[in-house]
Amino acid sequence: MAEADADDIDRAVEAARAAMKGPWGRTLTASQRGGLMQKLAALIRRDAQLLAEVESRDNGKPLRDTLGEVNRAADWITYFAGAADKILGEQIPYRPDALAYTRREPVGVVAAILPWNSPISLSSWKLGPALAAGNAVILKPAEQTPASLLEIARLAEEAGFPPGVINVVPGFGTVAGAALVAHPGVNKISFTGDHHTARRIMAAGAGSLKRCTFECGGKSPHIVFADADVDKALTVAIHSAFRSTGQSCSLGSRLFIERPLYDSFSAALVERVRKIRVGMPLDPRTHIGPQTSAEQLEKTRRYIRLGSEEGARLLLGGGRPKGFERGYFVEPTIFGEVDNRSRLAQEEVFGPVLALLPFDTEDEVVEKANDVPYGLVSGLWTKDVTRAHRVAAQLEAGLVSVNTFRPVHWMLPYGGYKQSGVGRENGLEVLHEYLETKTVVVELAEGPPADPFAD
Ligand code: NAI
Ligand code: MG
Repeated sequence: MAEADADDIDRAVEAARAAMKGPWGRTLTASQRGGLMQKLAALIRRDAQLLAEVESRDNGKPLRDTLGEVNRAADWITYFAGAADKILGEQIPYRPDALAYTRREPVGVVAAILPWNSPISLSSWKLGPALAAGNAVILKPAEQTPASLLEIARLAEEAGFPPGVINVVPGFGTVAGAALVAHPGVNKISFTGDHHTARRIMAAGAGSLKRCTFECGGKSPHIVFADADVDKALTVAIHSAFRSTGQSCSLGSRLFIERPLYDSFSAALVERVRKIRVGMPLDPRTHIGPQTSAEQLEKTRRYIRLGSEEGARLLLGGGRPKGFERGYFVEPTIFGEVDNRSRLAQEEVFGPVLALLPFDTEDEVVEKANDVPYGLVSGLWTKDVTRAHRVAAQLEAGLVSVNTFRPVHWMLPYGGYKQSGVGRENGLEVLHEYLETKTVVVELAEGPPADPFAD
C-alpha cells in the first residue's frame, strides 16, 4: 500500500484546486455534475460484491454488513446526485430600487478524513453532499483500511469525473492527515473518528480558519421503560449493541432498563446474545467478526478488565470465543448493574461490550442518560405517547428514536451534541456545510447617489 507524505498531499491539493478551475468548477452544469454522481452510484452497485469483499478483507467486518453498506453508499450518492441541480439561492426584498440575491457557491477543496470502521459507507456521507455542492474532494482513509477507497477512486475515473475532483491519499494520520488538515489550499475539513483527534484537527485547521464538521462517536443511551413492547425492544437492543462487532459510533451501548423489567429483560438478553455467531468475515453465516486491529482488540479487553475492577457484574462473555485462538476476536460481552459514573459507562469502547443499568424513575433516567460527555444518538421504548415526546425533548443527542433505534438514513440529519461532534451530516441541510453563501446587491436607483461628503 502506498503511503502518502506531505509532498503527495501538496500534489493532491494542487490537483483538486486545478479541478475547481477546470470543467468541474467552470463549465459543467449542475445537472451534469449530478449525472456523473449517478454513474458513480451505478458502478458501485455493479461492483458491490467485489467492494464488499475488499472491505471485509481489509477491516474484518462480516460480508453481510459490508454488502449492505456498499449498496447504501450507492443510495447516499444517488440521493445527493438528485440534489446537485436543486441548490438554490434566494432573491431578497432588500429595497425596491435594488436587486439583492444570494448565490450558493462550493467552499472549494474538501478534506474528508475517514475512520476504519466503515470506509465506503462513511465516504459516501461526505462525497455525496461535497460533490453535489460542486467541490473537489480529497479522501484520507484510515491507515488500517485504505483498500476500498482506492477501488472507489478507480470507479470515479470510470464514471468520467474530471481528474482531481475525487482524490484518495492513503497514509497515516500524523503524516498524511496532519499535512492535509494544515494545508492552506484546503477550505473545509469533514472528519469522522475519535474526538481527541478532532480537537487536534480543529487546532491545525485554525491557521487558515477552515470550515470544519466533526462526527466523533458516542456512548448512547438506550432506554427501555417497563411498558415497552419487550420482544421488539429485545431484538433491537441486541442488534444496536453488537452490530459491526461493536465498532460503530452509534451503538446503544448503555442500556437502561426500568427496574420491574430489569431481571427478566437482562436474562432474556443474555440467552439471545449467547446465540450470536462469531465467525470469519467472508463466511455469509457470520453475525459478528473480529475487531479491526490488535490495538482495538486490546482496547476492548482493557475495558472488559476495567468493568470487573469497577464492580460491574460480568453476565456474559469477556474472553476469546471458543475455536478462535488466533486473530482479533472477542466474545460478545454483557455487564450488569453498571454504575453510570464508571468508565465502562462513560467511555466509548468500540467493541462488542454492552452495559446494563437499572433505573427507577423517568427523571432519574433522563439525568443519567445525559450525564456523559457524548450526545450522538439515543433511544427509548414506551407505549406512553406523552412520555415519548417529553423524554425525546430532554435527551441531549442529535438523534432520538422512539420504539426503534438509530434510524440512520440519507434523508435524516445526523450528528452530535457535546463531544460527539460539530455540525450535521445527511439530510438536505448538510449541503450548507459544503457551500458558501455569497450575497450580491445590484443598485437599481437612477441618478447620482446622495454624497455624504458633500457638505
Ligand atoms: P482516529 O481518530 O485516530 O482516526 C480517524 C482518522 O483520523 C484516520 O484516518 C486517521 O488517520 C486520522 N488522523 C489521526 N490523527 C490525525 C491528525 N493528527 N491529523 C489528521 N488526521 C488524523 O481514530 P483511531 O485512533 O483509529 O480510533 C480510536 C478510537 O476512536 C476508537 O477506539 C473509537 O473509540 C473512536 N472512533 C470513532 C469512530 C466513529 O465512527 N465516530 C471511528 C473510529 C474511531
Ligand atoms: Mg488515533
